Amino acid sequence: MKMIRLRIDGKLVVAPEGTTILNAALKAGIYIPHLCYMEMKEVGYKNDCASCRICVVQVKGMSRLVPSCTTPIKEKMEVITNSPEVMHKRRVVLELMLSDHPKDCLICGKNGECELQKLAISFGIREMRFEGKEGRYDKQYSIAITRDTTKCIMCRRCETMCENIQGCGILTGVDRGFNVIVNTAFNRNLLETDCTFCGQCVAVCPVGALYETDNTFRLVEDLMNPNKKVIVQVAPAVRVAIGELFGVEPGIDMTPKLVTALRKLGFDAVFDTNFAADVTIIEEATELKERVLSKLKGEKGVKLPLFTSCCPAWIRFVELNYPELRDNLSSTKSPQQIFGAISKEFWTREKEIERKDLICVSIMPCTAKKYEASREEFAIDGIPDVDYSITTRELGRLFKQYNIDLLEMQDEEFDSPLGESTGAADIFGRTGGVLEAAIRTLYEWLSDGKLEDLDYVNLRGFQEVRVAEIEVTGIKLRVAVVHGLGAARKLIEDIKSGKEYFDAIEVMACKGGCVGGSGQPYHHGNFEIVKKRAEGLQDIDYRKELRESNENESVMKLYDRYIGEANNEVAHRLLHTHYFDRKNHK
Ligand code: FES
Repeated sequence: MKMIRLRIDGKLVVAPEGTTILNAALKAGIYIPHLCYMEMKEVGYKNDCASCRICVVQVKGMSRLVPSCTTPIKEKMEVITNSPEVMHKRRVVLELMLSDHPKDCLICGKNGECELQKLAISFGIREMRFEGKEGRYDKQYSIAITRDTTKCIMCRRCETMCENIQGCGILTGVDRGFNVIVNTAFNRNLLETDCTFCGQCVAVCPVGALYETDNTFRLVEDLMNPNKKVIVQVAPAVRVAIGELFGVEPGIDMTPKLVTALRKLGFDAVFDTNFAADVTIIEEATELKERVLSKLKGEKGVKLPLFTSCCPAWIRFVELNYPELRDNLSSTKSPQQIFGAISKEFWTREKEIERKDLICVSIMPCTAKKYEASREEFAIDGIPDVDYSITTRELGRLFKQYNIDLLEMQDEEFDSPLGESTGAADIFGRTGGVLEAAIRTLYEWLSDGKLEDLDYVNLRGFQEVRVAEIEVTGIKLRVAVVHGLGAARKLIEDIKSGKEYFDAIEVMACKGGCVGGSGQPYHHGNFEIVKKRAEGLQDIDYRKELRESNENESVMKLYDRYIGEANNEVAHRLLHTHYFDRKNHK
């Protein structure tokens, strides 16, 4: 690779040919403010439409200022990032941007986390010199994502994510000239579009144009209600990310302090979604085993590959785009919904409380989980299994409101028995984890032996698609892991055209899996943060004494006492679900 030598603010910088001025400067520790630009090389995300012009710099010999995010470096180039001309231009650009931006920061969904707000602070903007015309759009609420198009700054990050990475194309530039805005076609509510609620648009939006639909008020009301028991379940990806909201490095396991903080907030019992993840594996591995054995017997019509079903955005993607593949989806509910079903059916029985008096809340790294909890099939007589879900960010905000400093908490353990889990459940939160957990258990069941090496490293990492061939007592399985819905679409097309064959496929909608979910603390394009969270979960798995779901004694007791065999009638009533053809949003 040819290396280029240039000077930025007088400092000698060496970077590979093709690097932009912005990236060369950032790498050399020279900060250039930028807004529309965002890149996560590891997962192929790049938004470089150069629409904001905040990143302009001066290049010696060039008559005009240039956007550093799209201008490649050249040999002997001399760049100045902070001349009076550059600073004036940036300030004017920012003032113009603010001139037609709503000034209701105090009640904005991204207040305190808005990149535009941070720029206004750093530039010391105190007055509005220009008067712009604000475009006015009504706020649009959906169960998972709220859109405030009036706040859109046309950076197009969401559009790039939705179209290029997720392959959904729901958000796009509409209208012309001054009125152009990123919106849905015909300004439809997201629920009336093919939106999967993955929320990756929320994860990259720099301002308050897209944010999660807030459920914290509802939770506060429930916690105050003396007639309700309010319990909580915590997803694996939350524990390695919530610390970031309190200044802790990404990937640090905050479980013991988080449990205490949740008790302090007022929950009657604090449980672990991981318990339900172990149950998921018992059911899903049974499904896979039965289908693989049926295929080996030569039975006709066996639906393979079996796709995992834990990710609600992926499920909605299939229902909207590939309803013909519904029977290939594992019918096992997601851990969130299994937990809800078990707690409302059995925990209520043990505690002698009525189903209607139990509120089950989930803390999730994801906006699509809000949508999943609201699906009609997950309710009995109008009472949902999971009443509602709140994101990692919402929980962090609540802790701060209540003066609960996570770092100051004592260490405590989850309540029993719905708080016990194995390492297999922890890795559910990262790409490749669900399939790896299923294979650990499946191996034991097929071989009747103990698996010596539990680490399927071929399934790990962040490559878009990872493929592994696994052999158990002569049975060969070809499996794949894919993250990102656009990549899943490509893989499905390859399978449909006969180019590829697999027995099992894990799909997670978000890059990196749930650790990169839309409800997590904002990573602002730094994928290293997502990687560290994934490593954190892997570390918890390594540290656990039990690392296979079939070793979870509390789960096995649940089967002995209430369910019986996996995949039987009781299991199907409680732990399995069905899917719909949602083409044309039926
Ligand atoms: Fe370069 Fe927006 S960050 S033009």
